Amino acid sequence: MALEREFQFSDQDFDTIRKLVSQHTGISLSSAKRGMVYSRLARRLRRLGLDNFSEYCKLLVSGEDQTELGMFTNSITTNLTSFFRESHHFDYLANQLLPECASLNKQTRRLRIWSAGCSSGEEPYSIAMTVLENLPESNNWDIKILATDLDTSVLEKAKQGVYPEERLSCIDNQKRRRWFKNGRGENAGLLQASPDLKALITFKQLNLMQDWPMQGPFDIIFCRNVLIYFDKPTQRVLMERYANLLADHGRLFIGHSETLYRVTERFKLLGKTIYRKVA
Ligand SMILES: C[S@@+](CC[C@H](N)C(=O)[O-])C[C@H]1O[C@@H](n2cnc3c(N)ncnc32)[C@H](O)[C@@H]1O
Repeated sequence: MALEREFQFSDQDFDTIRKLVSQHTGISLSSAKRGMVYSRLARRLRRLGLDNFSEYCKLLVSGEDQTELGMFTNSITTNLTSFFRESHHFDYLANQLLPECASLNKQTRRLRIWSAGCSSGEEPYSIAMTVLENLPESNNWDIKILATDLDTSVLEKAKQGVYPEERLSCIDNQKRRRWFKNGRGENAGLLQASPDLKALITFKQLNLMQDWPMQGPFDIIFCRNVLIYFDKPTQRVLMERYANLLADHGRLFIGHSETLYRVTERFKLLGKTIYRKVA
């Protein structure tokens, strides 16, 4: 049934959009998401001067406008994030995992971390702060944090590393002063991530559903609050690929409402959504 709204949005349009979203992002949209889809995409229709969703679907299905396809996927993704979200993960990283990596990798002095689905950067910057504060002699280590997301608009924010002060209210003053500088010029009144943090992180667009150019091995993978948007078969494929890219001692962090129960046997739960690769 078509909804009485600014733009006509039929069942068929919603089905087409669900298929396109699944095909391009792996995100599985339930029928409960229909209102959300309407409001997020209505902005695109207005911008393009289209009269209804059927015209928008035609444009997307034709594949003629790759830029619009990008705007479409950017509109559909949910990017909620925060600094030190699920703080127990960062406690574990600081107190257990980094000391373990320091010992295991003492010959190579190499540490590789991947933040997969990094959104606007709060997660990789939180990882970078934790590593620099807790890995002994970190300045003599080869540390790389890869931060990837499908959504180019949040990735741009992540690269800038500029945040309103209230986004950093969960960080104590000392930490904030150490790792963030007051923005100047157009960033006045905002806080800017320090060059030391930025130097560790490489931001790249990557669709988890497509080929991955990285070789690994990674010591640690964060893929938090991303799996929840995918169906079980997609989660299974993703977990297989993560396990293949992780070092034998590797750990995987997932989000608070996610589980690998009945998804994969490649990881063992250590507790609180922290998993170890099964060697
Ligand atoms: C809710 S955010 C999670 C951010 C962060 N990991 C956290 O836990 O705070 C989910 C992110 O996954 C990204 N995402 C969704 N589908 C993706 C895909 N197929 N490939 C890469 N990233 C994807 C979204 O763009 C979004 O930024």
